[in-house]
Parts: sequence; C-alpha cells; structure tokens
Amino acid sequence: MNKNFNIDRFLDLSNYATDERVSRRKNSDINSNEFFTPYSIIKVMCDKISEEDWSDPEKTFVEPSAGNYQFVVYILWNRLMHNIDWRTALKTLYSVELMEDNVKEGKSRLLSLLSQMNLSDYNEKEAKRIINKNNVCHDFFTWDFINWREYTQAELDLMKKPKKEYNDGLTQEALF
Ligand SMILES: C[S@@+](CC[C@H](N)C(=O)[O-])C[C@H]1O[C@@H](n2cnc3c(N)ncnc32)[C@H](O)[C@@H]1O
Repeated sequence: MNKNFNIDRFLDLSNYATDERVSRRKNSDINSNEFFTPYSIIKVMCDKISEEDWSDPEKTFVEPSAGNYQFVVYILWNRLMHNIDWRTALKTLYSVELMEDNVKEGKSRLLSLLSQMNLSDYNEKEAKRIINKNNVCHDFFTWDFINWREYTQAELDLMKKPKKEYNDGLTQEALF
C-alpha cells in the first residue's frame, strides 16, 4: 500500500473549482451554496477520534451532509492507514448528501484515492458497488440512518403528526 500518499494535497481546496460548480447548477432549482471544510480543520476534528476506534473494523463512520466528501475521503484514507482493508473500510463508511453533483464528484474522489493507494486485492467494480450502496444522494431529514433506506411515506406521515402526548401529560411538538 502507498503509505506516502499525500492526503493533505488531495484534500487541498485552495484551487477548488467553485465557479465550475456554480455554473453547472445554473439551471437547477436548488443550490445549497455550501462551504467545504479545509484539510487543516478536518485533521483537527478527526484527531479527536481515538487510535483504537480508527483501527477497529467494527466501527462505522457516517457523514450526514457530505458536501464533496472532504471528511468521507479523509476517513477512508485514515482507515486504510490504520490497516483496515479497503473492503471493510468502504463497508463501514456511510454518507448522505443532497446535491447530486456533489455526490458524483465525491464518489469519483473516493475511487481516485483508492486507485492511487496501490492496494492489494483491489477490485474497482466491487468498490463502486459498495460506494454506491453506502453513499447516497438524499435529504437527510427523510433518510432512515438506522436501516439505511428512505423512510416510507407512511413513516414520514407518522412523524409529521403535529402533537404527541407524553406519559407526563405534557404535549410537545413532534420532530417534523
Ligand atoms: C457546509 S457544507 C459541508 C460539507 C461537508 N460536511 C464538509 O464539511 O466539507 C453542507 C452540505 O450539506 C448539504 N445539505 C444541506 N441540506 C441537506 C439535507 N437536508 N440533506 C443532505 N445534505 C444536505 C449541502 O448540499 C452541503 O453540501
């Protein structure tokens, strides 16, 4: 494996094509005008996760509003650097992002990283399959993170119920 891969440079946004993103969204109804987290901050935040957790193949990582996958890419790279095999690293990494162009860009960045890591036993077709299953283009408000699927309309309707009676007699606005 390529232990010398320069993740700092890979996640550098200083020359990021923001104009290109704006122009490709000209005819889109939605534009979330996002700001992506620079590498230096990603590093500080991810350093808060223990070495034990990074090295644990059972741990799962979820990015609920992934943007162009700055965190997702870093997490994948750091899992590989902690000797998690590429399949397990992908299978334990999940993300949700609203904007389709971001998701497309993010997935291609994941594949680009994997192709540059000189991984033994690497199979791009299988990697794509796992990436597509675990990294979705969706509104996180209507995504069931526990079961990794869309909420059904019946479930959403249930959540939209305006009031909920609690045992103590108090009423509280439902979440949605
Ligand atoms: C400030 S950016 C941060 C992106 C990424 N987490 C990062 O730190 O680089 C917020 C992202 O959330 C996405 N987003 C906004 N509302 C969302 C929603 N309801 N469901 C999923 N993603 C959403 C936007 O498209 C945008 O890419």
